[in-house]
Amino acid sequence: MKAEFGIIGLATMGQNLALNVEDKGFSVAVYNRTAERTRKFLEEKAKGRRIVPCYSLEELVESLSRPRKVLLMVKAGEPTDAVLEKLFPLLERGDLVIDGGNAHYADTERRLREAEGRGLLYLGTGISGGEYGALHGPAIMAGGHREGYELIEGLFQKIAAQGPEGPCCAYFGPGSAGHYVKMVHNGIEYAVMETLAEAYDLMKRGLSMSCAEMADVFGRWNQGELSSYLVEITEKILRYVDPETGEPLVEKILDTAQQKGTGKWSTQSALDIGTPAPTIAMAVFARVISALKAERTEAEKLLPGPELHLHGDREEFLSDLFGAVYLTVIAAYAQGLRQLRDASAERGWGLDLSEVARVWMAGCIIRSSLLVLIRKAFLEQPDLPLLFLAEPFRSAWEKHHVALRRVVARAHEAGIPVPAMDSALDFVDAYRTARLPANLIQAQRDFFGAHTYQRVDKEGTFHTDWEAVA
Ligand code: 6PG
Repeated sequence: MKAEFGIIGLATMGQNLALNVEDKGFSVAVYNRTAERTRKFLEEKAKGRRIVPCYSLEELVESLSRPRKVLLMVKAGEPTDAVLEKLFPLLERGDLVIDGGNAHYADTERRLREAEGRGLLYLGTGISGGEYGALHGPAIMAGGHREGYELIEGLFQKIAAQGPEGPCCAYFGPGSAGHYVKMVHNGIEYAVMETLAEAYDLMKRGLSMSCAEMADVFGRWNQGELSSYLVEITEKILRYVDPETGEPLVEKILDTAQQKGTGKWSTQSALDIGTPAPTIAMAVFARVISALKAERTEAEKLLPGPELHLHGDREEFLSDLFGAVYLTVIAAYAQGLRQLRDASAERGWGLDLSEVARVWMAGCIIRSSLLVLIRKAFLEQPDLPLLFLAEPFRSAWEKHHVALRRVVARAHEAGIPVPAMDSALDFVDAYRTARLPANLIQAQRDFFGAHTYQRVDKEGTFHTDWEAVA
C-alpha cells in the first residue's frame, strides 16, 4: 500500500502536520535529513499510526501513490533549494510539490518555473498557526498551479482550522500569490504585536501598572472589539509567573526582538510596488532598534528625556488607550490588505480579499473578530481601496481618532516611543488630507534638479528657473 501524502522535514511543524494529516484519515510517508529525528518521531509520537518512515528521498518518492503529493517543511532559503534540487529529478510528470515554509515570494516564482519546466505541479503555500495550529488546524494560503491545488484541496480542507465560514484554506492565485499572502499576514502580525507592546509599555512605564493589572486590561479588551489571538496570548503572558523567581516571566526576558525576515520582506515589497504600509514598516524598525541593546543602554545615560509618568486619570487614559490600539490594529490590517490589493493588480493574481479575510478567521496568528467585519466590507465592495472608507471602520475612526491623538501626544510628552500608533495616526491623517504639502516637495525637486511639476490651475508640465525669479 502506497502512502497518500509525503512530508519532508520533521521539525515541530512538519511532525505536527504529519500527525494532523494522519488523524484526518490519510496515510503519510515522512522523511527527515537526519534519520535519528525520523526514528524518534516514529517511536515517540507516531507509534501505531499510518505514518511510514523513509530514510532517503528515493524511498519517500517510491512509497507514495501517484500523482505524488509532497509537502516540504524545511527552512526557507538554501535548505529548501537543497532539497528541491534532489527531489525534482526523482518525481514524475503530474506530481505535486508543496512548499509549506515561509519562502520569499521571488524564490517561489523561481522554483515554480523550474518545477513547470519538469512537468511538475508546484504550490507555494503559507501555513500559519505555529505548532498548535499545525496539529489542530492551521490557516493554509496556497498559490501556484491551480491543478495542483485541486489535487490537494480535499486534504487541505480536512487539516485546516475550521472557521466560522468554512475551512481556513484557499487557493489565492498563480505564481507566488500564496506565499505573498502569508508574507503580508506576517507583516500585519508584526504591526499588531508592536501595537500591543506599545500599549504594555505605556501602562507599565507611563502608569506604573503591575503585570496582573495589565493582564486584566488585555483580558477586558479580548472580550470586545479587540478580541483576537494576539490579545489573548498577551494576557496569558502577563499572568505567567516565573517559577524560578516568583516574578512575572515577561520582565525577565531580554528586550531584543528577533525576526526571521517575513516582516522585512513585506515592507521591502510595499516599497517596491509603492503601496503605503508605514505601520508594518515601523514594526520592523522597532525590532531593529530593539536589537541595539548595548547602544540603547549607553544612550540612555547620555540623552535626557522628559519625566516618564503619564499624569491624569488612569481610567480615562486606559479608555483612550483602547481606542488608540483599536485604530492602530485596524490600520495594520488596512495597510496589509491594501498591499495585497496593489500586488494582485500588478501581478494579475485576481486576489479575492474577502477570501483572504475568511482564511485568516481561524488557525492563524492574526485571527481576530475584526476579520468578520473585514470580510463583510470586502464582500460588499471587492475593490475597496482602504478599510477605513467602509463601515464600521469609518465610524470607528470617527469615534476613536481623538483618543488616538491624545495617546500619541501624551506618549510623546512622556518620552515613550509609540511608532506603530504614531504611524497609524499619520497614515490616516495623510490619507484623509486632500491637499498635502507635496507641492513644496515638487517645487524643491524642480529647483535643484529641473524635475518639473504640474499645476492645479492649468494643464501641462512646467519648469521654473527659481533663482532667476527670486
Ligand atoms: C505563523 C507565524 C510563523 C512564525 C513567524 C515568526 O503565521 O504561524 O507567522 O510563520 O512564527 O515566522 O516570524 P519572526 O521570527 O520573523 O518573528
